[in-house]
Amino acid sequence: MKITRKKLSSSLSPTDLLIVFGREGKKAKLPAGVEIPDHASASFSGEARETRLTDATSGPAKRVLMIGLGNDREQDLERARRGAAIAVKKAEKTGAASATFWMGLPTGKNAAEFGQALSEGAVMGSYRLSAFQNESKPANLKRISIHGGADLHKGARRGEIIGGANCLARRLQDTPANHMRPRDMVSEARKIARGGSNLSIKIHDEKAMRELKMGSLLSVSRGSSEPAYLIHLIYKPAKKARRKVCLVGKGLTFDSGGISIKPSAKMDEMKYDMSGGAAVLGAFAALAKLEPDVEVHGLVPTSENMPDGKATKPGDVVTACNGKTIEVLNTDAEGRLILADALAYAEKKIKPDAMIDLATLTGAVVVALGHELTGAMGNDKNLIEELVTSGETTGELVWPLPILDAHRKAMKGTIGDLRNMSTPGTNAGSSAGGAFLENFVGDVPWVHLDIAGSAWGATDRDYQGGNVGTGVGVRLLVDYIEKQE
Ligand code: BES
Ligand code: ZN
Ligand code: ZN
Repeated sequence: MKITRKKLSSSLSPTDLLIVFGREGKKAKLPAGVEIPDHASASFSGEARETRLTDATSGPAKRVLMIGLGNDREQDLERARRGAAIAVKKAEKTGAASATFWMGLPTGKNAAEFGQALSEGAVMGSYRLSAFQNESKPANLKRISIHGGADLHKGARRGEIIGGANCLARRLQDTPANHMRPRDMVSEARKIARGGSNLSIKIHDEKAMRELKMGSLLSVSRGSSEPAYLIHLIYKPAKKARRKVCLVGKGLTFDSGGISIKPSAKMDEMKYDMSGGAAVLGAFAALAKLEPDVEVHGLVPTSENMPDGKATKPGDVVTACNGKTIEVLNTDAEGRLILADALAYAEKKIKPDAMIDLATLTGAVVVALGHELTGAMGNDKNLIEELVTSGETTGELVWPLPILDAHRKAMKGTIGDLRNMSTPGTNAGSSAGGAFLENFVGDVPWVHLDIAGSAWGATDRDYQGGNVGTGVGVRLLVDYIEKQE
């Protein structure tokens, strides 16, 4: 879909569908010359998510769609995202090939933020995965134009980039595991790296990882016929950056549980176990175009977790690249094993000022927080706060969880330094996972985001949700990084 931006002062070009927003008690403003029947505007109250579609009686638009934003201005950005998504979905249903958003907002920061939310919503709302359907027809809606001021347009351009990056992450998530293997994650990462002269990439294969002594990561891919990789993307701004941030994403392309095999119900959902990796790749696609003055490294350990004669067995002891030994008591707690080596590698070789990992790490976080929140824990209160704030800006909500000494103690090994599953009776599975990862970050300020709930299965947010991936993390990470400049 192509988005063009037009000045509010320029007159409306012919369009299949004109889209306007209205608020409670404030009628939607139409461009000069466009008229709709009185009963249509009279029956539109401007309530949040309200829609009113009507034929135009005169002017260059065939039809007019009014979308309600409600009256709570604190909710504006999320409402704009949702409103735009509702609009493009409705436009698609009416068969419109072109649609025009007519926005009458003042200039300034608010207008830019509103423009960003608007085009994020429009782009995310048009996401669909049709690659695996013979009978899928191409989308009706081909062109969107946004009439607004310069600030709104600046924001809209950013929103198009960020919304597009969210869709990229969702495509990777939704692609089934036989088409999105570790090697496919690598080729997707290479494609992203080719898309920006400010990006570079290094791929560590199993041989390289053996040399780096990543025994923890390698223990996970042992049972799979697909080799594991460690993807390392680097974004370097033109100016020397003040800060260096490292993003780490769990890229488990299929988690069967390994020898500690999962029950078959819902096992298909474990294609989503690479959602953290997808978020990191999506964020890099956006960074290359947004060009913030921050150096960013992205690590995606990617592997399958499968049972096999060669697979790691419960009770095996493996050694991570920082020398720590781990008793693998449950081969289904594999995310922390691949992250352990990636985090330790980052701490030793990249030495970032801050490190954020994203992982579909525990079923427990789904129980605790459901599908609308990401759990956050780490060793730096400030960094957690910053991510909570970015969550509020982007609508990708983040909720802090603790790591207590009790959780740290529960991850101590009996014959090794650590165990990958807490001692029975500890519960607090998400905090226990965080306490395990903490052993691999040294003194680097670090936050672990458990996205097992928020990566898929969210109820409909208009721009995402339902039975597909959410691309969670992309917009959150981009917002956080841009605030580090
Ligand atoms: N990928 C799963 C976590 C998961 C489960 C995400 C369900 C989303 C929905 C992870 O690798 C896992 O299996 N974790 C175990 C850890 C346990 C064995 C300590 C879990 O949460 O049960
Ligand atoms: Zn698992
Ligand atoms: Zn997993």
